[in-house]
Amino acid sequence: MKSIFIILFISPFIIYSQTDSLAISIKNGKSLYEDFCVRCHMPNGKGQEGIIPPLAKSDFLFKHMEESIKALKFGGIDGVIIVNGVKYDSRMEKMGLYDDEIADIMNYTLNSWGNKYNERITEKDVNVIKK
Ligand code: HEC
Repeated sequence: MKSIFIILFISPFIIYSQTDSLAISIKNGKSLYEDFCVRCHMPNGKGQEGIIPPLAKSDFLFKHMEESIKALKFGGIDGVIIVNGVKYDSRMEKMGLYDDEIADIMNYTLNSWGNKYNERITEKDVNVIKK
């Protein structure tokens, strides 16, 4: 009985701290986005059609999340990719970002311009992705 009360008492704090850490990550991600991504993908995340793919409502980003993280970590993506029905055949340079920075940028990207993702990408999620 006593443990139920303990769980009821602490669970709101756990839930609160999780949403809070997502909010902090998104905030950090926004300023990193402005430093590293905005010149190509634009402030509204729409990219430049046919040259730079959009991140806003990007089907590619949500379907190939691991591939997207890999591209941010190591540079990429090789070959033609199709984003929202438009072909892109270019390559992103490696930007020298740390894993925690990539996680923050992903959390910002996945939760901006109408994008919504329920989970938080962590530094560990980025860390386990290999070339
Ligand atoms: C020099 C321009 C440039 C910069 C800077 C850049 N990108 Fe890209 N990005 C591209 C291009 C070009 C592609 C398409 C690659 C291809 O054709 O294979 C791409 C593809 C992507 C994709 C996968 C396709 C999609 O639209 O979902 C993601 C995700 C992405 N970029 C995120 C980022 C993020 C986040 C940053 C900042 C850390 C960033 N990019 C910085 C040019 C850039």
